[in-house]
Amino acid sequence: MKKITFAILGMGNRGTQYALKQLKYPEEMEVTAISDTRKVRLEAANKYLRLPADRIFDSAEKLLEMPKLADIMIVATQDAQHKDHAIAAMQKGYDLLLEKPISNRQSDCIDILNEAEKLGRKVFICHVLRYTVFYQQIKRLISEGVIGDVETVEAAELVGAHHYAHSYVRGNWHREEKSSPMILAKSCHDMDIISWIIGKRCEKLSSFGSLNHFKSENCPKEAADRCFKCPVKCPFNANKYYLSRIPGWPSNILHPEPTPENITEILSTSDYGRCVYKMDNDVVDHQTVNMLFEGGITATFQMSGFTNRQTRTLRVMGSKGEIWGDFREKELYYQRFGEDVVKVDLESLCDDFHGHGGGDARLIYDVIRYMRGDVFDTSSMTTIDRSIDSHIMAFAAENSRKNGGELINLYEYKKEAGL
Ligand SMILES: NC(=O)c1ccc[n+]([C@@H]2O[C@H](COP(=O)([O-])OP(=O)(O)OC[C@H]3O[C@@H](n4cnc5c(N)ncnc54)[C@H](O)[C@@H]3O)[C@@H](O)[C@H]2O)c1
Repeated sequence: MKKITFAILGMGNRGTQYALKQLKYPEEMEVTAISDTRKVRLEAANKYLRLPADRIFDSAEKLLEMPKLADIMIVATQDAQHKDHAIAAMQKGYDLLLEKPISNRQSDCIDILNEAEKLGRKVFICHVLRYTVFYQQIKRLISEGVIGDVETVEAAELVGAHHYAHSYVRGNWHREEKSSPMILAKSCHDMDIISWIIGKRCEKLSSFGSLNHFKSENCPKEAADRCFKCPVKCPFNANKYYLSRIPGWPSNILHPEPTPENITEILSTSDYGRCVYKMDNDVVDHQTVNMLFEGGITATFQMSGFTNRQTRTLRVMGSKGEIWGDFREKELYYQRFGEDVVKVDLESLCDDFHGHGGGDARLIYDVIRYMRGDVFDTSSMTTIDRSIDSHIMAFAAENSRKNGGELINLYEYKKEAGL
């Protein structure tokens, strides 16, 4: 069997997760080159990849100077770097596995799409949720007509207060200008899933939302700049939070091999140890999107940072019944009107829920099969020509939010964007 080879730009959390899949699919995939500006990340990954020194690069740019070293380039650097890295890799001859968002700017997303079309490159976007058994079963139930015609969708992304504080107050995605608006960074997945399960185009949308809580007005008077000196009893105390989560997530985001010593050191010098009310964050902590799809189908979406749990929930209401579920809990039910509730046994359909409910592994597996030319149903794969729509919806929603919830006609919006 032909192995599909991968080179990787950015060995942070995502790049490492994909590289690890080599251990799961040793006969099918091989990582042949990696790059990162942080030595500690490269060293940690190479403990299991065992690459020779000349296949390890201290920047994406240096890897991209080399002749083509793999079938696919995984672009897993930060949002604002995607455009340069994706275009340079395609010009070198690589097909891409490109982390979402395609880019943090709308015009850059379109530039990447155009370049892929011009060069004839395959570009798969890491909309991992589509590859999970949870969402695939929802799609199957709808396709088989189990609940009749879809009329309404109610979707929610419960970010989790601690996850929100980690990623969107202290972490990589806390400022829009440096990364992405929240609705793009976190919820382009949701725009994609909602459109995919409905199977129709979104025609209009509007959005509200703001940064209401994680800002200086809400800072307790006695709060210190850093949590380790702070006298305030606060749910967001960084030291308590990260030190009690060694060696798992999110301490392993701060250091690939977290120990009490290195995490304490990082908390005393980086943003991860700072007071959540004294940061320079500006992305919203809650947002809603109201959508109208072809055929009069309506959908609502809520993203909230104010939840205990970290999950996504969904209710699809059709002309003959309902489907509802909770992603993290692996719970999925349906009920046709007047009939009994049926539980879909997700655990019997998937043996590995690790990494976005199993989506990370299944994405890699499907990309391998696609590249190998295997015959299978590829109609739901997240190629850039399909994934761009969710991004346009997210940019349009952000536009609406910033204009007081203005109604956006997506046909006109796309035309103006040059699509
Ligand atoms: N698909 C998903 O569900 C999902 C989930 C989380 C993050 N993401 C996206 O994946 C991407 C990576 O996120 P992450 O969480 O891994 O972030 P990260 O910060 O952990 O990883 C990015 C890595 O890129 C490295 N880097 C920076 N400049 C570089 C350069 N010039 N050359 C090589 N490496 C460089 C950094 O050192 C870092 O290790 C982001 O775009 C993010 O939005 C997607």
